[in-house]
Formats: sequence, structure tokens, C-alpha cells
Amino acid sequence: MGVEMRYTARMKIKADLVVKNASQVFTSAGSPESPVVVEGGSVAVAGGLVAWVGKTERLADDVEVGPEAMVIDAAGGVVTPGFVDPHTHAVFAGSRPLEFEWRLSGRSYLDILADGGGILATVNAVRQADEDQLVRESLPRLDRMLEFGVTTCEVKSGYGLDVENELKLLRVARKLASLTPMRILPTFLGAHTFPPEFRDDHDKYVKLVIEEMLPAVVEEGLALACDVYVEKGVFDVDQAEQILRAATDSGLGIHVHAGQFVDLGGPEMAAGMGASSVDHLDVVSDEGLAAMARSGTVAVMLPGAAVSLGQKPPRVDRFLEAGVTLALATDLNPGTSYTENLPLMAFLSVTSMGLPCSAALLAITRHAAKAVGLKEPEGTLAPGARADLLIHDVSDWREILYHFGVTHVSKVLIKGKPVAGPRAS
Ligand code: NIG
Ligand code: FE
Repeated sequence: MGVEMRYTARMKIKADLVVKNASQVFTSAGSPESPVVVEGGSVAVAGGLVAWVGKTERLADDVEVGPEAMVIDAAGGVVTPGFVDPHTHAVFAGSRPLEFEWRLSGRSYLDILADGGGILATVNAVRQADEDQLVRESLPRLDRMLEFGVTTCEVKSGYGLDVENELKLLRVARKLASLTPMRILPTFLGAHTFPPEFRDDHDKYVKLVIEEMLPAVVEEGLALACDVYVEKGVFDVDQAEQILRAATDSGLGIHVHAGQFVDLGGPEMAAGMGASSVDHLDVVSDEGLAAMARSGTVAVMLPGAAVSLGQKPPRVDRFLEAGVTLALATDLNPGTSYTENLPLMAFLSVTSMGLPCSAALLAITRHAAKAVGLKEPEGTLAPGARADLLIHDVSDWREILYHFGVTHVSKVLIKGKPVAGPRAS
């Protein structure tokens, strides 16, 4: 051949679902400082995964939308990844409104716990409830989370505190996962506090967690991760380390509640063990932050718990300077943070913690996915990510934060399929 002809035929992406005509697609890709936002965008999905994101005007050229494909008109709304709530205690029985009032009049959370209330009040209620009751009480919470756009949610046990009742809570979490389209990631939190039976022998309870509870949880495949509440009067760093070592030896991921009131050095210990997250961190040392930055451990901030306890949520400047990845969670529980509203946590983070707006949306999508141990590109709308996405009834992504306290979600897609949302048709 005399003349070499070189051209590349552009292969079109074959989509089975397209969301088009968004005013903006906030992809959660890019950096917190310059997130990738496609103005006038669309998203194409194939096989339950994001296949393409781009300008709506490029859609016809780049994507083959066959006759069977579903086309959803975002009608000028904003598209984001589904929200990920990386820290909840969503399975529990009863509630504690009186305690709320006591705390407002000055009693401290740790005092109430030391007197057998707090977490232990919910432990009593859970021990008396059967699985059906727990499912009945917990499912509406998950429904409300979905209304706020949560498509993946971590759920902890921790209100059973004996073998039978910890297993019961995790079995309920498994049952709930079959009743909701949300992805539920269960965490074993047998070390949430010491039950009354072990009030005077804490080391014996630690032994029970390690030698009986954890193996039973692992045997039934009921949890993906293990968590410990490291706090003054609860578990110390040494006890937590023993439990978490046993958990990693059994193949579980690890999270830690630390620095809610007192910094005992939990972040350094957890980071050193490769924890995927350390949560609360209302008080944390520079060494703790440096250790977390080194290990890539995500800081999960819980502003709902802080404000509910009358604390000022921490400023994030030190976290960002140290290079720590920040996520946000509701911490949904009947004591310190009784809310299903994850975007409200993002609002609190930008108004009282100093998080930039774009970083707050990353904190409830991509960074929250990292906190629960999901791999990139989960929590984003980059090609290859699970196609969990939301259409919000707003025309600028900042309105998701700015117009606070309500849900703007009009449609939820999970694995590329529309699910019945609050106002979904
Ligand atoms: O993360 N601080 C420990 N655990 C929960 C509260 C649980 C409760 O009070 O029921 C939290 O805030
Ligand atoms: Fe918690």
C-alpha cells in the first residue's frame, strides 16, 4: 500500500441505562480542591457499573443507547454518587429521650453510662427484643437513610454484649440487607462497653470477646469488620489492641471509636494496625494525625454526636494540614446522634468545622467509601464504579449543603437500577 492510512474508529460505549440532561454531574473524582464537575452532563451505565460520564452534547457520539436501554431524564437536576454512611448503630430497640433531657440540663454522657444508663439502657432493650422486633424497628431507619440518598451504609452491633445478643444484632443486619436495596456493611462491636455482668472483671470480658464472640461472628460470616470503643472508663488501648489483633487475624477489617472525650492514643494504635478508619476524633494529638496520614487511615468525623452532646465539633484545619483523609457519618444511634440525615452532617461540617463544600461532598461519597474499606473508584462516578447514583432536585451541587435539613433526592439508582425513593416515580 502506497499511502499508509491510519485512523482509529471510535468505538461507542454500549449502555443499558442513561441518565441525561443533568445541570451538573458531581463525580467525586479529582481532588477535594478541584473536584470533577461536568456542567450539562450525562452518565451512561453498563452492567451495573458506570461506563461513561460526559457532556450531554457528546452522548450521541460516544454512547450507543440501544432500544432496550432505559433513559432517565435528570431534567436539569444534579447527579452525584450515592452517599455512603460509614458509621451507624442503626440496629437497636427503643430510644432514650429522658437521657437527652438530662444531658441538656448538664449530666455528662460518661456519667450516665457509668450509672448503668446510656449504651447499657439500649443493651437492656435489645436483650429483651426478638429479631422480628429489631427488624421492625430498624427498617424504617434504613428507609429514612435512603430518602437522604444513602446507598451504602455501615451498621455496627454493640448493644448485645454477650454472644447470643451480638449474633442476634448481626443476624438482624443481615436480614435487613435482604429487605433494602441499600448495601449494608456489618461491623462487630462487641467491645462497645462492659456489660453489667462483667462490671468488676473487664479483662474477663475482653477474653470473652476474643475467644467466644469474635469466633462465632466469623464462623457465621456475619461481619466484615470489627470496632472497639476506646475511651476513658471504657476500653483502654491495650485491650483494644488485643481485640483488634484477633479481628485482623480472622480476616476482618478494623475501625476504632477514639477521641470522643479523651485522647488515649487510640489513633496511633489503630493506624499502626492498618485500621481503615478512626472515628469521632473530637480530641486527637498531632502524633495521632501523623500516624493516620502515614497509614492512609480515614478520619470519620461525627458532628451529629458532637452537637448533640453540646460539644463544638472540631475544626478540620489540623487534619487537612496533616494530610488525613476526611469522611463524615451520622453515627445514627439512640444516645448521641439520633439522625439518619447524612447531608445534614455535611452541612455541619462546612458551617462549623471549616470543611470546604467540595470536600464535604467527597466526605460522604468517595472518602466514606474508603473509610469502610471499599476500593477506588467506589464512591465516585468514574468509569468502573458501581452505578449507585442520585438525582437531586437542585441545579447547583452546593445547594445540597446550602439548603439544609431536607432531602433533595428525587431518584436513587443502585447498581444501575432505579429503586423506590422518597419521591421517585
Ligand atoms: O459512637 N460512643 C460510643 N458509641 C456511640 C453511642 C452509642 C450510644 O450512646 O448508644 C457513639 O457515639
Ligand atoms: Fe458510634
